[in-house]
Amino acid sequence: MRILSGIQPSGILHIGNYFGMMRPAIALQAEGEAFYFIADYHALTSLKDPATLRENGRRVAIDFLACGLDPERAALFRQSDVPQVTELAWILSTIAPIGLLERAHSYKDKVARGMTASAGLFTYPVLMAADILIYNSDIVPVGKDQKQHIEITRDLAVKMNETFGEIFKLPEPRIHGATETVPGIDGQKMSKSYGNTIDIFGDEKEMRKRVMSIVTDSSPIEAPKDPDNSTIFQLYSLFATKEEIAVMCEAFRRGGTGYGDFKKQLFAKLWDYFEPMRKRRAEILADPRYVEGVLERGAQRANEVAEKVMARVREAVGL
Ligand code: ADP
Ligand code: TRP
Repeated sequence: MRILSGIQPSGILHIGNYFGMMRPAIALQAEGEAFYFIADYHALTSLKDPATLRENGRRVAIDFLACGLDPERAALFRQSDVPQVTELAWILSTIAPIGLLERAHSYKDKVARGMTASAGLFTYPVLMAADILIYNSDIVPVGKDQKQHIEITRDLAVKMNETFGEIFKLPEPRIHGATETVPGIDGQKMSKSYGNTIDIFGDEKEMRKRVMSIVTDSSPIEAPKDPDNSTIFQLYSLFATKEEIAVMCEAFRRGGTGYGDFKKQLFAKLWDYFEPMRKRRAEILADPRYVEGVLERGAQRANEVAEKVMARVREAVGL
């Protein structure tokens, strides 16, 4: 079984990325052959600063490894180290219906938020389909916001198979129910473009400050509170034990505890949860060549698979 996912190096990783995509992806690396990459071609649709793109890419690799990606099991590589994906993206674009791309929520949202509607932003899902199909992927672990992109990938794979014969497998999204949309400190989906993130590797003061700024209603301390509508409780439930979740749930319902106290409990738990990852990250940072070595080996493995699939595609379409 081949598992594949990508993450854009368009900013610093937050706990929405971690619980929505990275933790499930790391868990899956034991179940098959995993390919995880840094989507730098995709990030170019929003990021036009070369030094930042390069630096973020390296940081995403370091942070992913620190969070538990095992390079002996999973290949970790830069998307642009396998330039064949752009060749496949071109071929897919020749069969991709414009109407299908026009329906993409992600494109519409980005343009609505003021991003320039470039051709690259419009065909973003075609490149993503190429990423997935070029590695014969079976399973794609992602957050819910990426579901439509995987449906588009399947549509393009079907269209290619109908037009040129059976070339591609149809990939399945793997969306982890409990963490499909992690809320940010304002209660909306956590996203770097909304400025509502809690970063995984922020320093202690910064992480505390973000947690303490979670928006709540104005119930007084004595009042019973509704855990199901609380961002604090939702975030806590992502990683606390069953018993701890039950204790917090009960304290919400009973009343007598203020939101400030719940936030302190959430912060303490969050800080502890990421402690081993901060340690691992410090070790990785101490050896600057380590990450480059991992990315080079990852790119080699990815190239071998991509080249085989591309040979089949070129043959099938007549190139
Ligand atoms: P952002 O929205 O901050 O720009 P990305 O689009 O780079 O994040 O997302 C990278 C991965 O993390 C994707 O698989 C995405 O589904 C997942 N992800 C991002 N934010 C969340 C969230 N708030 N909840 C669940 N998954 C998320
Ligand atoms: N579009 C994804 C995101 O913003 C990143 C991505 C690019 C991806 N190519 C992919 C994810 C292939 C899964 C598979 O998060």
